[in-house]
Amino acid sequence: MLKKKKYNVAIVGATGAVGKEMINVLEERKFPVESLRLFASERSAGESMTFMNQDLVVELLQENVFNGIDIALFSAGEKISLQYAPIAARAGTVVIDNSSAFRMNPDIPLVVPEVNPDAVLKHNGIIANPNCSTIQMVVALKPLHDKAKIKRIVVTTFQSVSGKGKEAMDELFEQTKSLLSFGDVKVEVFPHQIAFNCIPHIDAFLDNAYTKEEVKMVDETKKIMEDDSLRITATTVRVPVYIGHSESVNIETEEHLSANEARAILSSAPGVLVYDDPGRNIYPVPVDAAGKDEVFVGRIREDESIPNGLNLWIVADNLRKGAATNAVQIAEILIRHTQKR
Ligand code: A2P
Repeated sequence: MLKKKKYNVAIVGATGAVGKEMINVLEERKFPVESLRLFASERSAGESMTFMNQDLVVELLQENVFNGIDIALFSAGEKISLQYAPIAARAGTVVIDNSSAFRMNPDIPLVVPEVNPDAVLKHNGIIANPNCSTIQMVVALKPLHDKAKIKRIVVTTFQSVSGKGKEAMDELFEQTKSLLSFGDVKVEVFPHQIAFNCIPHIDAFLDNAYTKEEVKMVDETKKIMEDDSLRITATTVRVPVYIGHSESVNIETEEHLSANEARAILSSAPGVLVYDDPGRNIYPVPVDAAGKDEVFVGRIREDESIPNGLNLWIVADNLRKGAATNAVQIAEILIRHTQKR
């Protein structure tokens, strides 16, 4: 990518839940945008969206659209990424891809700027943005790992419906509305009714009885933390929350870390805010994390069942730090390095 003052940027999947947030985040963080092009399918091509008080028309995604685009943020699902990201990379665009298509490819960096920013530099045209539940967990755990070496992680997630896109958000709305007026429930997006329910099933089941989402958390965490010795087990659950994923995380460390020490480390960790004062009912909740870019940590306690263990409650906006903000932060690292050259 060439050294420039401002960049030609594209968003693929601009009309989706994450795509819309990408537009907001580019604007809020004053990313140096020369031009912004928005792409989606024929369903929404021709619609208009706003960026920096300008109306932009959504264009149909096609193979020949990438010439002249410096950076493309992709969030239109794995199939679109597999088809179009290599085409974009060949046209000289750097793709920051929010799907799971390339995350575990050893030649493609998987980046969380607070954890492994330098991995960005190893890209060959595609950089992968991790899974939303993985991002918030590693932002909170990396500083503890650096201090006390984490040996094992046991995580259970409580994931909002926006992680599955705008149709999923509509389904929660329609089911809730219908149930509150004693109507019938239509189940289309999720495997069961999501309104007033919890579903321990995110993405497809694999032969070992785990879901793909659970395996993503295990594999991606090891890759981002650059530590294959970590032992990790996950249970991922969909809950009827619109925005914001919560996680109950138990860690076992090599060195002893008191709850107070962990609180102090996390209080000065990049991208983390500690909300931990149980006596005053202060702990993170998704409603408060929604719309924010930080990862919120609370309920920090020593695990009294083992010598070196901690329990934490980690919450973040899955559309922002879990997706759009992380992608734009990667783009910021990219252009910072380009400016230095
Ligand atoms: P569209 O609005 O045209 O359906 P979400 O994850 O919130 O459901 O959003 C998915 C995003 O991916 C939307 O912007 C959607 O556009 C886009 N998308 C889905 N299929 C395609 C496709 N075949 N080509 C381009 N964009 C697509």
